[in-house]
Amino acid sequence: MDSAILRTFAQRVVAAALMAWSAALVAAGGQAPAAAAAVFTVKQAAAGKVAYAKSCASCHQPDLSGDSEIPALAGTAFKEIWGTRSTRDLFDYIAAAMPYGAASLTVDEYRAVTAYMLQVNGAPAGEAELTAATAVTISSLLPAPSPR
Ligand code: HEC
Repeated sequence: MDSAILRTFAQRVVAAALMAWSAALVAAGGQAPAAAAAVFTVKQAAAGKVAYAKSCASCHQPDLSGDSEIPALAGTAFKEIWGTRSTRDLFDYIAAAMPYGAASLTVDEYRAVTAYMLQVNGAPAGEAELTAATAVTISSLLPAPSPR
């Protein structure tokens, strides 16, 4: 075979592979995997950062790392406790109980702080605002843990 024929052959193989792949995609529902859901806006998370600094950082630390007495709100510990629960569970908890012993923020501030905690833990911001009723499993918003 000369090189022109070889090239044509290679193109056919690639074309056949592409067709098989798109057929498989159609069989799988015809869609590429959905992008990760986004349940809060950049603006909300930014407002949450301000509210967090004012009302939460004194105990949970500015970087959400907690200390020996206070639970961390980011990283592995957070994912273990909150990953299987919903964004609404998290919102409801902090709106009822935080700042510890003195729940005193507005609903908007609680929404914003919830968004900020999700963002720090790796959840993406998007078009939709987090509401008091938003209920998405938290682990589904977070990046998969990196292998060790
Ligand atoms: C006065 C210190 C203090 C402040 C201020 C405070 N917290 Fe806490 N927080 C705690 C303590 C103590 C706990 C553990 C409570 C328990 O186990 O019952 C806790 C627990 C939590 C938890 C549950 C953590 C877990 O993994 O179980 C979350 C979420 C949380 N706080 C969020 C917040 C947010 C958001 C704010 C600001 C609006 C805030 N906290 C302000 C002391 C504080």
